[in-house]
Parts: sequence; structure tokens; C-alpha cells
Amino acid sequence: VKVWGLVAAAGSGVRMGEGGPKQFREVAGRPLFVHTLGALLEPGVIDGITVAVAEGFLARAQEIVSEHLATDVPIDCVAGGATRQESVYRGLVSIAGRGIDIVVIHDAARPLVSPETVRAAVDGAAAFGAAVAAVPAAEASCLAEGGFIAAYVDRTRHYTIQTPQAFRFDIIMAAHEKARSAGTTDAVDDGVLVRGMGEEVAVVAGSPENVKVTYIEDLNRITKYTEGRPVKK
Ligand code: CTP
Ligand code: MG
Repeated sequence: VKVWGLVAAAGSGVRMGEGGPKQFREVAGRPLFVHTLGALLEPGVIDGITVAVAEGFLARAQEIVSEHLATDVPIDCVAGGATRQESVYRGLVSIAGRGIDIVVIHDAARPLVSPETVRAAVDGAAAFGAAVAAVPAAEASCLAEGGFIAAYVDRTRHYTIQTPQAFRFDIIMAAHEKARSAGTTDAVDDGVLVRGMGEEVAVVAGSPENVKVTYIEDLNRITKYTEGRPVKK
């Protein structure tokens, strides 16, 4: 099976504030998304990676990849779009027709993904066609509206969804095409598009450490973990 990574790295990091897109910020001496690529390569199950970056960052991203990652696995950069969904779609289009069986879609902003989670997503996609990493809720949870509890959610069935999310290539491409023709351009993730087609999406083990770096505090918090992590060099 040919397995390809697709990293969404075309966001502008508005919630992090000043200082440019978070995926390019230095963490433990390397741009954040270099850690992410290293983590994806770690289990040795991915045959190549495509990184979707904002058009204006293409040259810089490619430069960073060749400077920081010495690996035989091909890593290329393509232009993303205005929304995450659009960035992923452009990435998918760029790798179509290459005989890829499974695509592992991952946020550049999740550098701490474990090799076990990457493997679980790939295995889940191979077995079921679609698989998303998720973590069981640790605390009681509810839906709230206007400052009041609208409904309680059964904690034992409540999971928080992460990436990686892995899919058979034909399934995820069809899901994106369907969403686009229905006018959806800002889906929260990729699994939701597959569910929207009426297909089953398997839940595999993510981890609490696999945080999405969103706010400046997250960046500070992850530094100590990335320091000990290997990056293919
Ligand atoms: N992303 C993308 N293309 C976009 C928007 C987001 O590839 N047009 C990527 C981000 O780079 C990130 C991932 O999707 O790796 C998850 O998005 P998020 O954490 O929301 O990142 P940003 O959109 O950059 O941050 P913010 O929402 O605070 O602006
Ligand atoms: Mg965003």
C-alpha cells in the first residue's frame, strides 16, 4: 500500500497573535512544522508528504524542508487555500493520479503526534476506509447555549477529535468533491465530510499530548516536549 501524508499548513494563526503563522515559529530551534513532519515520519509508514502552505510561503517552506529534513521520503509543498478544507482539497488534487492508496491528513499545528497514533490512523483507514484520531472525554460534558446548559452529553460516548485522520484516497477525494458541489467550504475537519457521504468513520486512539497549538501559551508549553523528540536529520 502506498501511504501519503498531507499536512495542512496554510493557516495564518490569528488566535496566536503577532509574529507570523504559528507553523513557521521556532520551537526548540526549528520551525514548528519541521517537528510535525519529523513526527509523521517517525513510524516509517509514510511514503511521501505534501505540505499545503499559503502561496506566499511556498519558497520559504520548501527551503526549510531541505535545510532541516534529510530523509529519503519525498516532501513537497503546494499552495493551500482560504480555508483548511480548501487547503486539504488542493493538496489532494496535487497528489491525485499517483497510485496513492491511503492519505494521512494532519494539522501542521500538532507537532506532538505519537508514532502509535500515526500507525493507528493508517491501519484504521486500511481496515475501514476512514479513521480519525480521538480522545475520550475525561470530564463531564454538556452542550451550552446562551450561558446555560442545553443538554448533557454522555461522557462515555464523548470523544474529542484530533488529527491525524486517514482515508482511502478515493473516499476522501469523493467526500471533498461532494462537499464542494454542495457549497461547503469550511468544514471543521475531513472526517465530517466522509460522514456527510454516509460512510462510516472509525475512531482510533489519539492522545492528550497531541494538542493543537492554538494560543501563544500552547507554543510555550510544548517546547519542553519537542526538545526531547527526534527529528529526521
Ligand atoms: N490551515 C490550512 N489552511 C487554512 C487554514 C488552516 O492549512 N486556510 C491549517 C493550519 O495551518 C493548521 C490547521 O489547518 O495547521 C488547523 O487550523 P488552526 O489551528 O485553526 O490554524 P490557523 O487557522 O492557522 O489558526 P487560527 O484559526 O487561529 O487563525
Ligand atoms: Mg483556523
